[in-house]
Amino acid sequence: MKGKKIILGVTGSIAAYKSALLVREFVRRGAAVKVIMTPFAAKFIAPLTLATLSKNPVHIHYLENEKTGVWTNHVELGKWADLILIAPATANTLAKMAQGHCDNLLLATWLSATCPVWVAPAMDLDMFAHPTTQENITKLRNLQVHVLDSPAGELASGLSGEGRMEEPENISSEVEQFFENSVVLSNKKWLITAGPTYEHIDPVRYIGNHSSGKMGIALTQASLDHGAEVTLIAGPGVPVLKHDRLHRVDVTSAREMYDAVLQQWEGTDVGVFAAAVSDYRPKHRASEKIKKTNAELNLELEKTDDILAELGSRKGKNQKLIGFALETENELENARKKLKAKNLDLILLNSLRDKGAGFGVDTNKVTFVLPQNKVVKTQLDTKPNLAKKIVGYIAENL
Ligand code: CTP
Repeated sequence: MKGKKIILGVTGSIAAYKSALLVREFVRRGAAVKVIMTPFAAKFIAPLTLATLSKNPVHIHYLENEKTGVWTNHVELGKWADLILIAPATANTLAKMAQGHCDNLLLATWLSATCPVWVAPAMDLDMFAHPTTQENITKLRNLQVHVLDSPAGELASGLSGEGRMEEPENISSEVEQFFENSVVLSNKKWLITAGPTYEHIDPVRYIGNHSSGKMGIALTQASLDHGAEVTLIAGPGVPVLKHDRLHRVDVTSAREMYDAVLQQWEGTDVGVFAAAVSDYRPKHRASEKIKKTNAELNLELEKTDDILAELGSRKGKNQKLIGFALETENELENARKKLKAKNLDLILLNSLRDKGAGFGVDTNKVTFVLPQNKVVKTQLDTKPNLAKKIVGYIAENL
């Protein structure tokens, strides 16, 4: 952690007493730490404790001194940090973050920040299990906020269950690992495709699919977190992600995706093809809206180019290609065929038969299918967690 800059956000939960241990741990491991507290957090733990341990003044209010007009610049704080960790993060703060509220200095700083943001939820079990809290956590995950586990155990209320703040030693080890990982793919160029493609029938209609682009975005975030330079070729509706090492090209149709990918392929080290590319497009695109004059309408379709197969045939010695296979039957056999036919180094198999996996949902389950009949299965997990495993695997093994 030497030389790394961490903002620790502390919110109003009894677990705030653990934040002192976090600050001490980060400082011990060589990081520079600045603490921002919500006003309520300052009732659980003295700012003086955290200021002393972090060797920096603690920030609580926008306005530091009303008489002199001295104020805290949340934009500067947000830009200063390599990581913002909010621990403990109350149900209230998670809800405000999910909505983009900005009624305290900590929230204004996270809205201004461009670095990775982590939260360690801490609350009683029923508050944690409440559907609104779970929805807020899912929303934050989709905004690429890293949500730490809230393990089960004894709670301040005397009850026992999920909702405890993760232990400071585990958090600091995970942060350390994150900073270590952040250089693993330095100077590597990744190209990722994500989302669906739309093939126009006429000016108002298209052939598309249910891909949300969430898996592709999670993979983009994970490869950026490992230090790669990433070009994302995004189909329609793929969520927004901002990062200074990310170059994004938005496309609509399979043809546009093909052109964009081919233009970017030279110099790419790793290509990950998470897009659900349409296999067919209308042979003729009507220039005017098709009217319902006939009882039947037949659309003539033609094949689109298989982008991944094309790259497989021109793959350089040091270039790696990773594809996805979405199957509904004979899954493994079909995935192996695609791996070979498209000359891939790894194919990630999704089965629509797995509950919680596939399009639109926030979780996924994949099987790694490698040459020489090697297969590695994963458990159902959130898309960001799976993306981390996939990128880690590629970085380490390929
Ligand atoms: N793919 C691609 N270009 C296409 C079709 C698919 O690059 N025109 C890529 C996808 O991004 C995915 C992989 O190929 O990584 C496999 O896609 P999938 O739809 O599972 O398989 P297909 O090759 O289209 O075969 P089929 O539809 O017959 O299962």
